[in-house]
Amino acid sequence: MIIAIDGPSGAGKSTLGKMLAKNFNLLYLDTGAMYRAVGLAVLETNASFEDKARVAAIARNSKIELVGEPEDLRIFLDGRNVSAEIRTNEVGQAASIVSTVSEVRRILVEHQRTLGQNSATGAVLDGRDIGTVVFPNADLKFFLTAKPEARAVRRYTEDSEKGTATTYERTLAEINQRDERDVSREDSPLQIAADAVVIDTSELNLTEVFEQMLGITNEKIAQDTPV
Ligand code: DC
Repeated sequence: MIIAIDGPSGAGKSTLGKMLAKNFNLLYLDTGAMYRAVGLAVLETNASFEDKARVAAIARNSKIELVGEPEDLRIFLDGRNVSAEIRTNEVGQAASIVSTVSEVRRILVEHQRTLGQNSATGAVLDGRDIGTVVFPNADLKFFLTAKPEARAVRRYTEDSEKGTATTYERTLAEINQRDERDVSREDSPLQIAADAVVIDTSELNLTEVFEQMLGITNEKIAQDTPV
């Protein structure tokens, strides 16, 4: 069973993806974390983001691993735990830039397909292109979205708890900038798959969204189970 969760940043994909994976005992793959790891690797080597060949080479030579259960998933870059480092806004922007490089996408998509296919029980993958490119035949596709203002409030609250908040206005500007790059890039832009279930989470709390996703997933399992 492959479940795709796509949508813009801050719509709740990773929290809900983890909850769903835990509930159905599926592997959880945070594909954004992989782009973040490449973004961090580029920042650390001081390479120019304009130099696409160099950025692609960094992606090719980086060993990216996702380790652990959904609720305490850790991200390793060349054997180093970078789970906390990749969560800064700077690395988020770097990830968004490297994700426009086709060769980077090719490398990471291949990695994601292998990990998803090799999971004995199946996987929940969250990202931007899971239902459209990585697993176009996924059993279930969700597209989670929310108004930019609602996503900015959530991100700002999270950052405040971590002590890394700037201002709400700046957070909103960064979200808008990242959305713009994610939907306008040439290769695999953020798009709603034709067969995706779209959920706008602006006015819903976590439990309400989870209940909806759980109901839809259970329905799908019932449909696919021979009687
Ligand atoms: O989900 P996130 O914010 O951690 O993702 C970081 C960036 O990576 C995001 O701006 C776009 C990119 N990304 C992508 O292009 N394709 C994916 N499947 C996942 C993330």
